[in-house]
Amino acid sequence: MNARTIRTKDDGPAIAAALLDWYDRHHRRLPWRIGPAEARAGARPDPYRVWLSEIMLQQTTVQAVKPYFETFTRRWPTVAALAAAPAEDILKAWAGLGYYSRARNLKTCAEMVAERHGGRFPDDLDGLKALPGIGDYTAAAIAAIAFSRPAAVVDGNVERVMTRLAAIATPLPAAKPQIKALVQELLPPDRPGDFAQATMDLGATICTPKRPACPLCPINDGCAAFRAGTQEQFPVKAPKAEKPVRQGAAFVAENSRGAVLLRRRPDKGLLGGMSEPPTSAWTARVDGAAGTGAAPFSADWRPAGTVTHVFTHFELRLSVYHARTDRAAPAGAWWSARAELPGEALPTVMKKAIETAIPGATGKPAARRPTRSEA
Ligand code: ADE
Repeated sequence: MNARTIRTKDDGPAIAAALLDWYDRHHRRLPWRIGPAEARAGARPDPYRVWLSEIMLQQTTVQAVKPYFETFTRRWPTVAALAAAPAEDILKAWAGLGYYSRARNLKTCAEMVAERHGGRFPDDLDGLKALPGIGDYTAAAIAAIAFSRPAAVVDGNVERVMTRLAAIATPLPAAKPQIKALVQELLPPDRPGDFAQATMDLGATICTPKRPACPLCPINDGCAAFRAGTQEQFPVKAPKAEKPVRQGAAFVAENSRGAVLLRRRPDKGLLGGMSEPPTSAWTARVDGAAGTGAAPFSADWRPAGTVTHVFTHFELRLSVYHARTDRAAPAGAWWSARAELPGEALPTVMKKAIETAIPGATGKPAARRPTRSEA
């Protein structure tokens, strides 16, 4: 592909130069980034921080990632420190970020880098892709940002920018190879990492999904969609199949000291290794809420409400039940004291279930209920 086939007025180098010039002035200051001025003064991004941020940013917003990134890097400042951390501590620190296989791979990947690569990340695409949890996108991002390799980095923001720039009418995901080829063609060999991040920043702040701020865009001159006034029609997406619904019940038991009964989910599978109040199986039946028949033991289970959570491949609807009991914890479960709950490895859906039964229990300030001494 060349500049003519992308139907832009400017040529590739001019587009890249305009984008980088904008990035130098308007880049977002993010805790894992080296700013362009620091880079010119010789600073290099720390591959550990680049890797950690890219894993966290998969499927998650910059805003949500920032506090987790700060916590992780304060607690585990190097890949060796992360490799030596207990898996349980990493899962607890990850709780709330979602897609928990990322947290499990994080530890395995850190161990491999520490043990097999002497604590240094491989600096090329193939070496990076051989590590657990690093796929095409993440390998390209680390190679470009941390090691200045000319790798094409394509995330959702980049897809939007590129499909508009060249008015690519092929629906996603079929358009991916075309988009990648365009990025590769535009890529400035001297600043591939900044180019990737500039495109992401443009997508996040100006070339937004709705009502993009085209008059402020540094590359609007070369944008085929802008010239045709069709920017909001891109990217074209193949229609998504509706997600199936699964149903189940969550049983939140509370003892007279306010502790909540938890158990650990099996290591393999969805939310593997994370904690939860006992739940029933999640089935595809849609004939009403799952009932107390699946409770882990008999108690005065009272309905507390329902929780809906959207996973990648299905939507889960949990009926939440609450009971007060001072029975001993069944095998494999434990009573988690109220002060310990916010630090447990509870995924968001399970926090929501507990909050539905006992508002404020997981430490979410908005839903906090006054304690007896405050009331
Ligand atoms: N999304 C994924 N990686 C990013 C990065 N390095 N900067 C900003 N947003 C991102």
